[in-house]
Amino acid sequence: MTQRSAPDKLAHVKARRPALDFAEARAHWIPDAPAYAYQLDAASTMLPYLEPYLIKVQKLARECLDPTADADLIADIDLFNRQEANHFQLHARYNETLRRHYPGLEPFEAEIKADFERFLREKSLAWNLAYCEGFECTGLVSAEFFFGPAQPFLRTADPASRDLWSWHLAEEFEHRSVCHDVLAALHPGWLRRLRGYSDFLTHLQRYGNRVAEYLKSVDRERGTYAADAEAKDREFDRVRGRFMLPRLARILSPFYDPAPPPDAADPRGGAAALRSALKRSGWSPR
Ligand SMILES: [Fe+2]
Ligand SMILES: [Fe+2]
Repeated sequence: MTQRSAPDKLAHVKARRPALDFAEARAHWIPDAPAYAYQLDAASTMLPYLEPYLIKVQKLARECLDPTADADLIADIDLFNRQEANHFQLHARYNETLRRHYPGLEPFEAEIKADFERFLREKSLAWNLAYCEGFECTGLVSAEFFFGPAQPFLRTADPASRDLWSWHLAEEFEHRSVCHDVLAALHPGWLRRLRGYSDFLTHLQRYGNRVAEYLKSVDRERGTYAADAEAKDREFDRVRGRFMLPRLARILSPFYDPAPPPDAADPRGGAAALRSALKRSGWSPR
């Protein structure tokens, strides 16, 4: 029997598919933190390739689990896969609008698609599971940040893009433990987990930074990069760095577990804001 840190925790969770329309979604959709929009848009370009990869890896893992003893974990994988499938399909639609705003994204997308195909072809299941776990742990911190200190920067954001990320990151928060539990069940070990985290960070951060830089360079060339953008981004980076760095460092601990409320020991941290934002937005895990 697989050890679960919080058994049956996803039994009450659904995969949702909100009716979002991106036809009128604006470029420069976060006027108070322009670089955040570039970074989230860069992330969106990879999701129609990354999330199918996550699903394929978790399906391979599912085959290695015991249908009886691991029934709860298998049910969580199925929920995880349904949520991720909805995510990448809606991001693929959003990306159609993004490509209209920023022609020239296709080569980046082809590159990241080929990377994930190569990982599935050449890497072990253990490596792929550790990579997925690294991504999902970082997704949890991104969700806490989005629903916490990022909220003031998002007040003037384009509603369609903001709703897309609200829904997506709320579901990332809900299924935050699944990849961690699957890795622990099939290929436990601190060093393996660290390696996956490091490989994921190196790979996807480099891709994300390059795409975000490209988006910014297009706006600079067109003269649509706002004059006060640098100053706004400096303030945003300060807020984000202070929030995210200690939480990302926590993932390095051999005792890291995404299951408990991540900031339970810190009532001034992001977890309380995240829970109330989820409730307000209708994406509450309860
Ligand atoms: Fe997702
Ligand atoms: Fe996820």
